[in-house]
Amino acid sequence: MRQLVLAAAAAIIMGTAACADTIKVGVVGPFSGPFALQGKNFKAGIDAYMATNGATIGDNTVEIIYRDLPAADPAKSKALAQELVVKEKVQYLAGFYFTPDAMAVTPILKQANTPLVIMNAATSAIVTKSPLVVRTSFTLWQTAMPMAKVAFDKGIKKVISVVSDYGPGVDAENAFKAGFEKQGGEIVEAIRMPLATNDFSPIMQRIKDSGAEGVFAFLPSGPPTLGFVKSYSENGLKAAGIQLFATGDLTQESDLPALGEAALGILTTYHYAVSHDSPENKAFVAAAGKALGNPAELTFPAVGAYDGMHVIYKMIEATGGKQDAEKAVEAVKGLSWMSPRGPVSIDPESRHITENIYLREVAKDADGKYINKEIQTFEKQGDPGLAATK
Ligand code: PHB
Repeated sequence: MRQLVLAAAAAIIMGTAACADTIKVGVVGPFSGPFALQGKNFKAGIDAYMATNGATIGDNTVEIIYRDLPAADPAKSKALAQELVVKEKVQYLAGFYFTPDAMAVTPILKQANTPLVIMNAATSAIVTKSPLVVRTSFTLWQTAMPMAKVAFDKGIKKVISVVSDYGPGVDAENAFKAGFEKQGGEIVEAIRMPLATNDFSPIMQRIKDSGAEGVFAFLPSGPPTLGFVKSYSENGLKAAGIQLFATGDLTQESDLPALGEAALGILTTYHYAVSHDSPENKAFVAAAGKALGNPAELTFPAVGAYDGMHVIYKMIEATGGKQDAEKAVEAVKGLSWMSPRGPVSIDPESRHITENIYLREVAKDADGKYINKEIQTFEKQGDPGLAATK
């Protein structure tokens, strides 16, 4: 009897040791500093996914290891990723808010045998830097091109473009220009501002002086976008009838109360609105709002992170928890599912997410809460950026 018990105990221990692994996922994002709310939303999306789907896949347990990268800093990004791979032995890298930080990590993926699941960084070209990159956010080509059509259809013929001078800004400028000129519109001036710009008054003066009927703008979501939209209204551009057309980065929901009436009526195009009307989004908003503690802080990086976790879970499932980056990425090519943002799939060629892009207008809902109200859908948009920049 005693022997039997010992044998059973040994079998249990060996069995556990043989198959139950902890799969570590290293997530890099801005968890402190001016963009901390964006990182907090990464975490909320991840927490919401794991609270809904559990932390185990088969016999494997998923563990998230966070690393803080407060601002765009490619050298630090690479160092953090290396530390996660070498010391922490993560099997997956994920997160990455800023393009330069994601770009900096792509050269280490192959040797590290690690997929990179980008939950935000949105410059088209990132996916071309390594076959091990998969992206669950959006690109500026994807979100800005539909806006060009919207602006032209509103009778606007002359637009000034204003973007932050780095990857996604340049993509946004090129995408809007390509779309707008194709319609027959004209870009009267294209301004690229340093990423660190925080006084927008001189820019607003240039916009006024340009004679444009509308302004197209992109800046990375966070304090810069809040400052830009405030300045747009405080400098009288809105009152002067110079319409603002932007990607949804400029009107993230967490900033709407601070913008107040000034934001009402602003048109943006984007992949996700917190107010998106679907059962999947209701469940997501409840879970992510709970993870945040304050549901009013919920904004788009949370959905990129939530869907990024879905992709990682599918990768872990397909590899049985073994570290095989190529097999993991192969397994999610063509994967489709119902995201809180609507139906999505991973394009097998680009490994970037195909999704609906919505035209939204800042409005008040029945409770007086400011929302991005979806008013038109551009269905199943892939990323036109790679073809356009070839
Ligand atoms: C990026 O750096 O790729 C980026 C950051 C914030 C955004 C969009 C793109 O809102």
